[in-house]
Amino acid sequence: MSDNLPRRQVLRTAGAIGLSAAAAGALQQTASATSSTSSSASEGIGHGRLEISKKVFGRTPAGEQVDVYTFTNGRVTISMLTWGATLQRIETPDRRGRKKNISLGFDNLEDYAALSPYFGSTVGRYGNRIAKGQFTLDGKTYQLPINNGPNSLHGGTIGFDKKVWQAKVVRTDTAIGVTFTYVSPDGEMGYPGKLTSTVTYTLDKANRLNIDYHAVTDKATVLNLTNHVYFNLGGEGSGSIDDHILQLNAPAYTPVDATLIPTGQIAPVTGTPFDFRRPTAIGARIRDDHPQLVIGRGYDHNFVLGEAGKDGVRLAARAWEPDSGRSVTVHTTEPGVQVYTGNFLDGSFQGIGGKSYRQGDAFCLETQHFPDSPNHPNFPSTVLRPGQTFRSTTTFTFGTI
Ligand code: GLA
Repeated sequence: MSDNLPRRQVLRTAGAIGLSAAAAGALQQTASATSSTSSSASEGIGHGRLEISKKVFGRTPAGEQVDVYTFTNGRVTISMLTWGATLQRIETPDRRGRKKNISLGFDNLEDYAALSPYFGSTVGRYGNRIAKGQFTLDGKTYQLPINNGPNSLHGGTIGFDKKVWQAKVVRTDTAIGVTFTYVSPDGEMGYPGKLTSTVTYTLDKANRLNIDYHAVTDKATVLNLTNHVYFNLGGEGSGSIDDHILQLNAPAYTPVDATLIPTGQIAPVTGTPFDFRRPTAIGARIRDDHPQLVIGRGYDHNFVLGEAGKDGVRLAARAWEPDSGRSVTVHTTEPGVQVYTGNFLDGSFQGIGGKSYRQGDAFCLETQHFPDSPNHPNFPSTVLRPGQTFRSTTTFTFGTI
């Protein structure tokens, strides 16, 4: 596994998350377990030319054109929509070179607009939930739209996933991709401040999909940007991900109440089905009698990641599918990752390959600040003020074992 990530400064770092010495020790174990696992792995190198093309994908009901950009390094091929700066397809080879799309999605805009549970979306302003859609900042209380039980989810009813972003091709000697920009007006979805977000997705020759987030505001606000790609490394529509192996660099997680809002506790994973510090099948304990698995209908939890290196980047996760050998490794500057096992997929619609998606047919690794942080002073802050620049980087590295 390559740790050779671009060095980036994050203005908003993880902050104090109060891990115990025991948790830190467990983390070190995880780091060595991860490197020994990866020594037998091959990430491969894309030997082809870096290429990008653009086509019209569709039109919104308001008549706005939506484009699809497809970029490749010859080995991995990514398609992205200007609708929601959405990862529509990720095609990667298995250990014998056979390529499949490993990301859930649709082949038409209507389904994205009407059905999508955030398939591949760039999520904002605030990834995951804010309790009762309320938070207080600098003495003023803000009310967001309620769109998930009693809470506000993923930026409200019309979040960044449902906006058409401006796109610009970026190309260097070693990477190709697209910079997406969206300017959210002051007060949109109840959030204060005009927020200008720029998210650059680039694929490099080492099969790394880098996602660089950048945002500035003209009033104090809160934000939590992420991407909500759903993976099935056996190929989208190929069935359950129970047999996928997952390893998380996470000594703790944030338990939730019945509406999936964190209780505020930072709970060690030791001795629970949430301990993925050693590689474990996702399905191995998902049906255990654990109250948090009942509330989540499976895994739908924020994991507290191990500390970052000097460059601000931490290893978050590694997952692979034993039959095909396809793997994905996640590095991030974010302090948390939401592990979601597609618990709300119910087979009621078909995806891009014509197969319906059912509960447990995919998993998400949404790198993020913790859910409902504006209401939990003990969580790393999600406040952004005028004059500050929000920067965050997540890298998905595609390979095989
Ligand atoms: C996140 C949430 C889940 C679910 C999905 C979208 O992962 O934590 O509860 O809402 O988004 O379907």
